[in-house]
Amino acid sequence: MTADSTLDQSATTAAALIRAGKLVAFPTETVYGLGADATNTAAVEAIFKAKGRPPTNPLIVHVASFDALLQCVNFATSPDPDHIRNQLEALKSLWPGPLSVVVPKAAHISPAVSAGGSSVALRIPRHPLALQLLELAKCPVAAPSANPSTYISPTTAQHVREGLGNKVAHILDGGPCAVGIESTVVSLLEETPTILRPGAVTRDQLEAALGCPVASAVTHQEQSSAPLLSPGLMAKHYAPRTPVCLLPDFKGDGVRVARIGAIVFSKDTALPFKPVEMRFISERNNLHEVAANLFAALRELDALHLDQIVVETCEPVGLGAAIMDRLLRASAR
Ligand code: TXA
Ligand code: MG
Repeated sequence: MTADSTLDQSATTAAALIRAGKLVAFPTETVYGLGADATNTAAVEAIFKAKGRPPTNPLIVHVASFDALLQCVNFATSPDPDHIRNQLEALKSLWPGPLSVVVPKAAHISPAVSAGGSSVALRIPRHPLALQLLELAKCPVAAPSANPSTYISPTTAQHVREGLGNKVAHILDGGPCAVGIESTVVSLLEETPTILRPGAVTRDQLEAALGCPVASAVTHQEQSSAPLLSPGLMAKHYAPRTPVCLLPDFKGDGVRVARIGAIVFSKDTALPFKPVEMRFISERNNLHEVAANLFAALRELDALHLDQIVVETCEPVGLGAAIMDRLLRASAR
């Protein structure tokens, strides 16, 4: 049997389980997802139960093609259907990829997906196994990250087994995720398209594709204490159990007795303390490598029951904005 036919076999099994209303974990280029048929309310509710996720936090729906994505949009309820259609056309070149768009929800998507709201987040993932699964399942697949609610997202099949192994019918193993942090979520419901969660598709890329300014709800949030546009913007999220401190904030109180782990980019980073464990996540000081390796390093150090994990930071620009967003959430108390 060739490697390809093994993949086919596994994706076929997983697709049949999705169609039967079961939960299947699958790889995407960002993180592993916990998938179910987005048109089946009982299956979608099982996702929330397995994760311990508040039912108020909506899920992202995954599809295999741009046509399938358009079918999940309710253009009729939009005040300007042509405008949304044009915006989606303008973003088409960024799919398959780490981008989710929030748009008016089509009626056949279960209300449980969108926490009862009228909008839905949609994306076409860029992973061959995910695309194969979505094509074979022939239905839109709702999938949050495949981790217990508020813990770090999984970037390997083993991470999924550790967190949710007994709660899923099948885990598709596609190796480590290439991007390593969750997709950019952009809302097209606002007059100005608004980033609800930064990710590997940057604000510059969105502005270039859309040909208009794009706002950032995260920055807005920090400045104005306005109501949350996206429940996923809660401060504490993606957090290990061990307290996380960002390197520039490290004060060194009590360090003589504490067992501290450090996550730094390369061996060039000087530390003002002696860690008991270290992880180097980018020898080349490259943000793509940092993103790809960050969650696995946080999980590894979290498993060691240290007193604190100290993490190197970067400029919050481009992909660095997404990395710093995750680090600020991981270190929020
Ligand atoms: O990369 C990803 O996006 C991964 C993979 C599996 O695709 N999925 C993921 O899903 O990270 P999850 O559920 O962990 O995060 C979804 C985020 C949350 O912050 C949620 O609040 C937001 O998207 N979201 C989903 N639907 C929304 C909606 N209709 N309006 C506003 N925010 C929404
Ligand atoms: Mg998540």
